[in-house]
Amino acid sequence: MSFLLLFFLFLFLTPSLSQTTPPKGFLIDCGSLSNTQINNRSWLPDSAFITTGTPKNITSPVLLQTLKTLRSFSLQVKKNCYNVPVYRGAKYMVRTTYFYGGVNGPDHPSPPVFDQIVDGTLWSVVNTTEDYVNGNSTFYEGIFLAKGKFMSLCLGSNTYTDSDPFISALEFLILKGSLYNTTDFTNFALGLVARNSFGFSGSPIRYPDDQFDRIWESFGQSNSTKSNTDNVSVSGFWNLPPLKIFETHLGSDQLETLEVRWPIVSLPSSKYYMALYFADNTVGSRIFNISVNGVHYYRDLNAIPSGVVVFANQWPLSGPTTITLTPAASSSLGPIINAGEVFNVMSLGGRTSTRDVIALERVKESLRNPPLDWSGDPCAPQIYSWTGITCSEGPHIRVVTLNLTNMDLSGSLSPFVANMTALTNIWLGNNSLSGQIPNLSSLTMLETLHLEDNQFNGEIPSSLGNIGSLKEVFLQNNNLTGQIPANLIGKPGLIIRTSGNSFLSPPAP
Ligand SMILES: *[C@@H]1O[C@H](CO)[C@@H](O)[C@H](O)[C@H]1NC(C)=O
Ligand SMILES: *[C@@H]1O[C@H](CO)[C@@H](O)[C@H](O)[C@H]1NC(C)=O
Ligand SMILES: *[C@@H]1O[C@H](CO)[C@@H](O)[C@H](O)[C@H]1NC(C)=O
Ligand SMILES: *[C@@H]1O[C@H](CO)[C@@H](O)[C@H](O)[C@H]1NC(C)=O
Ligand SMILES: *[C@@H]1O[C@H](CO)[C@@H](O)[C@H](O)[C@H]1NC(C)=O
Ligand SMILES: *[C@@H]1O[C@H](CO)[C@@H](O)[C@H](O)[C@H]1NC(C)=O
Ligand SMILES: *[C@@H]1O[C@H](CO)[C@@H](O)[C@H](O)[C@H]1NC(C)=O
Ligand SMILES: *[C@@H]1O[C@H](CO)[C@@H](O)[C@H](O)[C@H]1NC(C)=O
Ligand SMILES: *[C@@H]1O[C@H](CO)[C@@H](O)[C@H](O)[C@H]1NC(C)=O
Ligand SMILES: *[C@@H]1O[C@H](CO)[C@@H](O)[C@H](O)[C@H]1NC(C)=O
Ligand SMILES: *[C@@H]1O[C@H](CO)[C@@H](O)[C@H](O)[C@H]1NC(C)=O
Ligand SMILES: *[C@@H]1O[C@H](CO)[C@@H](O)[C@H](O)[C@H]1NC(C)=O
Repeated sequence: MSFLLLFFLFLFLTPSLSQTTPPKGFLIDCGSLSNTQINNRSWLPDSAFITTGTPKNITSPVLLQTLKTLRSFSLQVKKNCYNVPVYRGAKYMVRTTYFYGGVNGPDHPSPPVFDQIVDGTLWSVVNTTEDYVNGNSTFYEGIFLAKGKFMSLCLGSNTYTDSDPFISALEFLILKGSLYNTTDFTNFALGLVARNSFGFSGSPIRYPDDQFDRIWESFGQSNSTKSNTDNVSVSGFWNLPPLKIFETHLGSDQLETLEVRWPIVSLPSSKYYMALYFADNTVGSRIFNISVNGVHYYRDLNAIPSGVVVFANQWPLSGPTTITLTPAASSSLGPIINAGEVFNVMSLGGRTSTRDVIALERVKESLRNPPLDWSGDPCAPQIYSWTGITCSEGPHIRVVTLNLTNMDLSGSLSPFVANMTALTNIWLGNNSLSGQIPNLSSLTMLETLHLEDNQFNGEIPSSLGNIGSLKEVFLQNNNLTGQIPANLIGKPGLIIRTSGNSFLSPPAP
């Protein structure tokens, strides 16, 4: 397995834990109308981050404040996005929480299944069915790099979505630079599969034990009450796990092989980031081999008192997973394991060129009733591109077609459309658009311009005639005045329609 990358860390640093500062970022209580303080942390209402959807209250009783409200979205709208201000270049843990609470009415006792998207990347399917049956909420956690000043989190309606999607809570928390830093976050993101504290049976470990409020769930029964944390220096681990995960473990002192079936879910075939944590200060040596599904993972691991982590960046897994720890002949004690994390390694989808995104935002502002799904990335993921937008593929995603024919739109066409320099088609026919036709001469690839059956007024910009690639200009049935520019009439290969305007001189036959 040549694509395997393993790192092994010994730890020398002294502990310096300042766990009192809460993690930086935004805690958003979706559907809430006011600020709430929970455990001294402030949760914001979501209206500043999204313009679509409806806030709703859950009628069934729930304990957690953040689950009492949610935001619900029309099934008819392809995607709905939160836009959250971020620090460009910072690494964020994005956590979404869902608790259905029957908000879609008695016809839909089961929660809808839908997609969640971060920027241009399809993150995962949101299927809360099983948790909801057990009365539990469901959370998803991913780690993404902020590539711009805003990051979007969108919910998408897919073929399997049968009622209105919803969300209960959304968190964007900054992670320190060293966390998971062997992953190339400019090209990949991590989606959490499991994060467990082994041999631990309490309620999940999180902030303030974990300074980044990651959630470590209990896993496996242990009859050992021995805590091995005296000499662990957490600050030496790049991933900065909470000290508390080293208080419990699975395994024993007896020289026997330890098998852990973990994570419990059967995994889809993919590459995974896996980190396993160990620490022990028992007198004696505790040395063992680690294999995953029978494949050699690490040899002669020494579970030293200060602690050690072994991780793989892109380990292929599929189906059930078994971790086997085999004591070495030289070991005086049997193997133990304290904690583990598994993330799905996701390739990032593209992002629409910033130039086009900025221009489209202006185009959106100048329309009085833009399509409801115009939020998040315009082009990516492709199945969730904005209504009326078609894009090029490849590393530089550009908008090539703007087609809002028959959309009952009013407002005007922003001059910023001229900054979308890869456009080949602009079709806005049969709407109620008014105002002037902007100067489009920078659109050197433009082939078709269909503005027929609107209320555009003013003169036809003569600069249109300078666009060499132009093949069709449809302007009939508007309120245009003045002369048809001479350089458009009789332009070779150009079809121009201008009938039904106020003061135009008759076009050439
Ligand atoms: C909240 O903060 C106050 C003072 O800052 C402190 O006394 C209190 O214990 C804190 N509560 C919690 C739940 O952390
Ligand atoms: C939800 O509950 C709050 C307070 O109980 C109330 O102010 C608000 O109007 C309710 N919202 C809806 C949509 O019913
Ligand atoms: C959602 O999860 C339930 C329970 O695990 C499963 O039966 C169902 O097929 C899933 N739905 C989709 C659309 O994947
Ligand atoms: C989910 O529900 C089950 C059954 O009610 C319960 O045993 C379990 O502890 C719950 N899990 C969480 C994480 O709350
Ligand atoms: C990860 O962070 C640690 C601690 O800051 C640093 O020593 C190490 O070089 C970093 N590794 C990578 C691959 O960037
Ligand atoms: C743990 O650290 C203490 C000092 O803090 C030291 O005296 C002791 O030898 C260490 N134990 C082990 C097993 O390294
Ligand atoms: C833990 O309990 C199991 C049976 O319940 C026993 O087989 C095992 O030896 C015990 N381990 C230790 C370390 O006591
Ligand atoms: C540990 O792994 C090495 C390398 O695969 C192997 O040579 C050795 O026999 C293994 N030891 C045990 C106890 O399985
Ligand atoms: C634009 O949309 C209309 C109506 O949906 C369709 O008939 C037309 O072919 C589209 N034009 C382009 C260039 O995609
Ligand atoms: C014009 O658009 C409206 C919707 O805004 C549609 O109902 C009508 O059929 C369209 N007319 C033509 C000729 O396509
Ligand atoms: C287009 O983009 C440039 C910067 O690239 C900007 O200065 C200009 O105002 C934008 N808008 C228009 C309509 O040209
Ligand atoms: C367009 O012209 C028609 C008739 O000439 C007029 O009723 C209408 O108000 C004009 N619309 C605009 C937006 O100027």
